[in-house]
Amino acid sequence: MMKQPINFEKLSQQVITTLEADIDSLLNHANLPNPLNEACHYAMMGQGKRVRPLLVACGYQTVMQNKAMTTSGLTIAFEISSELPVNCRRAMLAVELLHTYSLIHDDLPCMDDDDLRRGRPTCHIKFDEATAMLTGDVLQTLAFEILTANIDGFEAIPDDQVAKLLKVFAPRARKMVSGQMLDLNAENRQIDQDHLETIHRDKTGALIEAAVLMGGVCAEASAEQSQSLMHFAKNIGLAFQVQDDILDVTASTDTLGKPAGSDEGLNKSTYVKLMGVEKATDYAQSLFVDAKQAVDSCFSEKSVLNALADWLWQRQK
Ligand code: IPE
Ligand code: IPE
Ligand code: MG
Ligand code: MG
Ligand code: MG
Repeated sequence: MMKQPINFEKLSQQVITTLEADIDSLLNHANLPNPLNEACHYAMMGQGKRVRPLLVACGYQTVMQNKAMTTSGLTIAFEISSELPVNCRRAMLAVELLHTYSLIHDDLPCMDDDDLRRGRPTCHIKFDEATAMLTGDVLQTLAFEILTANIDGFEAIPDDQVAKLLKVFAPRARKMVSGQMLDLNAENRQIDQDHLETIHRDKTGALIEAAVLMGGVCAEASAEQSQSLMHFAKNIGLAFQVQDDILDVTASTDTLGKPAGSDEGLNKSTYVKLMGVEKATDYAQSLFVDAKQAVDSCFSEKSVLNALADWLWQRQK
């Protein structure tokens, strides 16, 4: 029987449905007092693009598809499983929890002071600053708990895989915070491209890298496959924040679901400020091209990671 290759659209629907059900299960397990519980649901269930969980799932499926092809010798021999395995589900949750925490804190008055996120009032506006701070804190803690603990609805995963996931995740979660400090330090300053690249790689690229690499860990990627995933992730991670800088000036608040022009208002150091919209767009495109080459050189057919890169690039238009 001819099986279907993995379809990116189908996979992304599956990721969102699975992730949202798992968010509920985890928050039930956490049994937090209100308004913390309500604020966690509010922040996690907003209209996020779910890019990082998608990167986990696509990283996983790309490696699995390649393995299936190598072992069977058939051109199209891998069918999307109707369920994502529990290691992927845990990793998908971990990256989305950590990311959402970073957004809640990023929006606080002491940081970017934004009042709209994912098309709704930010956490500190909907609730209050203390609740927003604690919501970020607890989502960060839950990101580690979901990778390590026994939780109803999530089968255990082997200890050696937990260790590998943590080894990928923890240092990159820390880098995100370092990057946020560098970002604040660079307000109202002229900085060079190397410095800006470090900020963007740390505040945004690191977690994107963690997502792709954790997908690889879940699929038990070989050293060579992990190298390609890393190369892909580094390029996509930087490209994603360059795009975010561009969209801040080219897209509307309605489209973004967050305030357009926020960077200019805070005199942030961005790629648009450094090189202008046109050059920044060319630069982002070249990073997407490099990312796709990295996966194409290792994974023989058009992979879901390649399709994910196209989907991300499209949001530029
Ligand atoms: C916004 O991330 C913050 C950045 C790191 C650029 P996303 O654009 O992924 O935000 P959501 O999750 O879709 O809201
Ligand atoms: C945020 O960068 C990076 C994070 C770690 C949250 P931005 O400050 O540019 O993100 P947005 O534009 O507010 O989403
Ligand atoms: Mg910021
Ligand atoms: Mg911000
Ligand atoms: Mg931004």
